[in-house]
Amino acid sequence: LAKIEVKLGDIPEGKNVTFKWRGKPLFIRHRTSDEISAEQSVDVSSLRDPQTDSDRAKKPEWLVVLGVCTHLGCVPIANAGDYGGYYCPCHGSHYDASGRIRKGPAPLNLEVPTYEFVDDETLLVG
Ligand code: FES
Repeated sequence: LAKIEVKLGDIPEGKNVTFKWRGKPLFIRHRTSDEISAEQSVDVSSLRDPQTDSDRAKKPEWLVVLGVCTHLGCVPIANAGDYGGYYCPCHGSHYDASGRIRKGPAPLNLEVPTYEFVDDETLLVG
C-alpha cells in the first residue's frame, strides 16, 4: 500500500496544504495555537460525531485528514465556513479545524488516515 512522506517544514503555521494520496486529496494543516485551544475546548457532547481533538490529532499542531466530504464526497475548501476549518460547497457542510462536522448534511467527521511522525520534521501517511 502506498505511503506518502511529507516534509513538515514546508508547511507554514496557519496553512492547509493538499496532497494527492491513493487517488484522494489529503489535507495537512499546520494549526495555530488559537485553533488548537479552540478545538480542545469544544464540548464533545455537542458534536454529531463525538471525538475529542486529541483523538484526532496526535500532535496538536498537525491535523491530518482526507479532503473528502462525508456527505457525498466533494472536496471541502480549507479555512472557510462558520467554524473556520473546512467548508463543503456542494451542499453546505461546515467542519471545524479538527475536521469535525459541525453543521450541514454530512454525517461524520473528516476521516483521519493512519499516520505517524517519523521525526520532528517528517510525517508518514499510510
Ligand atoms: Fe459535501 Fe454534500 S458532498 S455537503
